[in-house]
Amino acid sequence: MIDPEKIRKISRQIFKAFEAPEGEVSLLLVEDREMARYNRQYLGRKGPTNVLAFPMREGPFSEINPFLWGDVVISTETARQEARETGISTIERIQFLLIHGFLHLMGYDHEGPESEARKMEVKAQEIMSRMESLKKEETGMKLPCLSVNVDHVATVRQARKIAEPDPVIAAGIAELAGAEGIIAHLREDRRHIQDRDLLLLKETVKTKLNLEMAAAEEIIRMALKVRPPMVTLVPEKRQELTTEGGLDVRGQKKSLKETVQRLHKGKMAVSLFVDADPEQIRASQEIGADIVELHTGHYAEAKNEKEAEHLFDRLVSGAQMAARLGLKVSAGHGLNYTNIKRFQGLREIEEYSIGHSIIARAIYVGLDSAVRDMVTLVEQLY
Ligand code: PXP
Repeated sequence: MIDPEKIRKISRQIFKAFEAPEGEVSLLLVEDREMARYNRQYLGRKGPTNVLAFPMREGPFSEINPFLWGDVVISTETARQEARETGISTIERIQFLLIHGFLHLMGYDHEGPESEARKMEVKAQEIMSRMESLKKEETGMKLPCLSVNVDHVATVRQARKIAEPDPVIAAGIAELAGAEGIIAHLREDRRHIQDRDLLLLKETVKTKLNLEMAAAEEIIRMALKVRPPMVTLVPEKRQELTTEGGLDVRGQKKSLKETVQRLHKGKMAVSLFVDADPEQIRASQEIGADIVELHTGHYAEAKNEKEAEHLFDRLVSGAQMAARLGLKVSAGHGLNYTNIKRFQGLREIEEYSIGHSIIARAIYVGLDSAVRDMVTLVEQLY
């Protein structure tokens, strides 16, 4: 069942994204049989189609009322089927068709020369990004921010199993240098961050503490005891050097949903660390996650430019899809002072989680400078 209020809301957002003067569009949602009738009657074509647009701002009577843009007819039946085929929700598909219809009303066309079709495609992309930005402005979203992972400070300390260097002090320095969040991964094997670190970080972090953790009973209990404002669920293997892949949310939907619900009861926002895979992103939304952190490790480790470009494109689509589904989006793993630059303009990503490259640079230039340099790069992304 399609909620007409939702459609009205999306239409208002499209109007706003067009930055167009006030106008009136009449929108008709029909099933295939009726659509086929319109298609035959007005375009002389056989069978149903997904969207038809009848502009009123061109032709002989366009002067009569310039506020009337025209009519858009959408077949919800075809939209539903196309949504299924492309793995998106019906409402997402309807949003796409609405934008398409509005563009026709504005005089765009894709049936003429290829350059015109391209122009229409570019404009559609622009409208979609503008809609995302407007949504963010409305919800008070701001520049992307940096959260610093302090595990690597603890790794150095644990090499000697003494008291220094202390990730708690590092977290304070990172915050003073402009980090807007601190991340610590309490692994089951306690190879770097210790329980004591987490307890102290909960008391001392002034920005936002994000506990990275496996969905393991012992660690869930710890999270429920400490209650950081946010947790990120990651897969964890004992033999790995660092987190290797994203969570298989789709394969563990039931148990992860329970974990998310338990963490929500403890008033924690829940982020899931996933590959930029549409199925994993959709499953994350379905089980009630608040945020997805897209795994950038594969992109960071690309063997050549072509592969990097391909993997980056996947991240872009993943970020856009997650944002469309109403999830907040962050990204992390393997990001450094060079490969972060490609994220320029990718407005869907609100936060970057970075550890190793910052701590590595800190060895040469100090933690304060290393964090400041990364904050500058992140804030310049849009
Ligand atoms: N995000 C997640 C989920 C991680 O597991 C890690 C590594 O601990 C990071 C971000 C940070 O990755 P890096 O240390 O490579 O910057």
